[in-house]
Amino acid sequence: MNRPAVRRLFSFDNLPSTIDNPGGWWPLSPQSQIRNRESQFPKEVVAMDPRLRSIFARRSVRKYTDQKVTDADVQALLEAGAAAPSANNSKPWHFVVVAERKTLDKMADLLPYGKMLYQAPLAIAVCADPSLSPKYWQQDCAASTENILLAASELGLGAVWLGIYPREERLAGCRELLGIPAIIETLSVIAVGHPAERPEPRTQLEVARVHRERW
Ligand SMILES: Cc1cc2nc3c(=O)[nH]c(=O)nc-3n(C[C@H](O)[C@H](O)[C@H](O)COP(=O)(O)O)c2cc1C
Repeated sequence: MNRPAVRRLFSFDNLPSTIDNPGGWWPLSPQSQIRNRESQFPKEVVAMDPRLRSIFARRSVRKYTDQKVTDADVQALLEAGAAAPSANNSKPWHFVVVAERKTLDKMADLLPYGKMLYQAPLAIAVCADPSLSPKYWQQDCAASTENILLAASELGLGAVWLGIYPREERLAGCRELLGIPAIIETLSVIAVGHPAERPEPRTQLEVARVHRERW
């Protein structure tokens, strides 16, 4: 299969190196440059290791262009989702790929914080067969969801995690809309599209949240 060239959300090249931006590899907005200059570095600011740029570049993207997501990109996202760790390698996940406008709109109707689905050209519901991982399917599917988000970012797509489990009304809504069997659970829906907004890469690590050897 011909894979499209990887497109990055950001260009990391030729960015100026400053104390707030060591190595100069992530682009800061004018506001956050001011904010960082005013903060008492390194009070809370933790430098982002450039080796992990793909982790920091993944942000929730809730605005999309009209461009469709290609089949090759959908396939890559699913491969990423199925590459996640799972308890006892149980791989309890199933994926429902939704690209029909009518279904995406109905999903947006039923998810109170999923209104970006009116604009998104694609959604992936990450579901689980709990019989394969009775104690850990939530964690397994959370790992799978994060893998898909990271893959979307790496492919130059924009995506956001929409929480379904354990909200009964959202679970029931997805079950009915997508024909999900009664024994299957839905952990998340991921809205995906080509980004029409570009949140900045960042970490949110705070020094006060790190405990060495003992709490
Ligand atoms: C379990 C979970 C449920 C979430 N549900 C929603 C949601 O329903 N709607 C939404 O817009 N974002 C949702 N998000 C995305 C978070 O709002 C987002 O990850 C957080 O604000 C941090 O921003 P970032 O993803 O850009 O780092 C959810 C994230 C998680 C992990």
